[in-house]
Amino acid sequence: MKTDEVKDIYNTAIQKVFHGDYEHHRWFHSALARADYDATKRSIYFHVLDRKPTFHDYLELGQGAGTWTAEFIAYNPRASFDAVDISKEMIALAKEKLGESARIRYFEGSFLDFDPDKKYDLFFSSRVIEYIPDVDAVVKKIASLLKPGGKGFIITKTPKYLRNKLLLRETSGLHKGQISPATLKNALEKNGFRDIAIYPVTMHFPLFRSAMINKLLYAIFYRCKLDPLSKFFAESYCVRFFKP
Ligand SMILES: C[S@@+](CC[C@H](N)C(=O)[O-])C[C@H]1O[C@@H](n2cnc3c(N)ncnc32)[C@H](O)[C@@H]1O
Repeated sequence: MKTDEVKDIYNTAIQKVFHGDYEHHRWFHSALARADYDATKRSIYFHVLDRKPTFHDYLELGQGAGTWTAEFIAYNPRASFDAVDISKEMIALAKEKLGESARIRYFEGSFLDFDPDKKYDLFFSSRVIEYIPDVDAVVKKIASLLKPGGKGFIITKTPKYLRNKLLLRETSGLHKGQISPATLKNALEKNGFRDIAIYPVTMHFPLFRSAMINKLLYAIFYRCKLDPLSKFFAESYCVRFFKP
C-alpha cells in the first residue's frame, strides 16, 4: 500500500473508527487487546529496558498515540526524544499523552523522508515497518540514523498469509506488507547490523479467541528465540540489533 494511502487511513480512522482514542481501542478495549498490551510491554522491558540501556538520543518511528514512548520516557526522562509519524492525527494524540517540551520533538512525515539534525543511540518502532513498502530502504534509513554503538528494537506483525489462506481469510491491503523474520534479519545483516536476535511478542491462538490462552502461550515462549512453533502462534515478533 502506498505511503499516502496509509497516512489517509490513519488520519481518517482516528475519529471515524477509534472515536479520538486510538490507544484505548487498540490496547485496552477488550481482554484480548489487553493481553496484547501486556505482552508488548513485557517484551519491551525484558528485551530492552531491563537490560539497563544508556541513551541520550532516542528515535521512535510511528509512535502513534505515544503508548510505548511513555515507557522509554519514564525509564530515562533526561534523554531527548524524537518521534516521527506520518499521521498528524496520531501526533496530536501523542502530544496529548506525552505533552510538549524541549525534551520531545514530533516530526510529521514519512520515515524515508526524515532528515534530522542528529544521530541516535536507540531506535524503537512498534507495528509500523510493515506499512512501508520497501523493507531494505527502511533498514538502510535506520542504519544511517543510528550512531556507531547504537541499538535498535523493532516490533512488527508476523505474516500469516498461509494460515489466512487455509482459513479462507482475506489479508487486507493495509496488512499485505508484513515482513517475514528471515527477510528482516537478512536486511539488517546486509546493512551491517550485528547481534540480531528475534523473539515472539503477542501470541494468538488460532480459530477461537481466548485472552487466557494467548497469555499462557506468551508466558511459555517470550524468553526463547523465535522458532517454527512460536512463529506459528506469534501475531507479532521483535528484533533486537546493534550497530557496530
Ligand atoms: C499500527 S500504528 C502503531 C502505533 C504505535 N507504535 C503502537 O504500537 O501503538 C502505526 C503507526 O505508524 C504510522 N506510520 C505508518 N507508516 C508510516 C511512515 N511511512 N512513516 C511514519 N509513520 C508511519 C501511522 O501513522 C501510525 O501512527
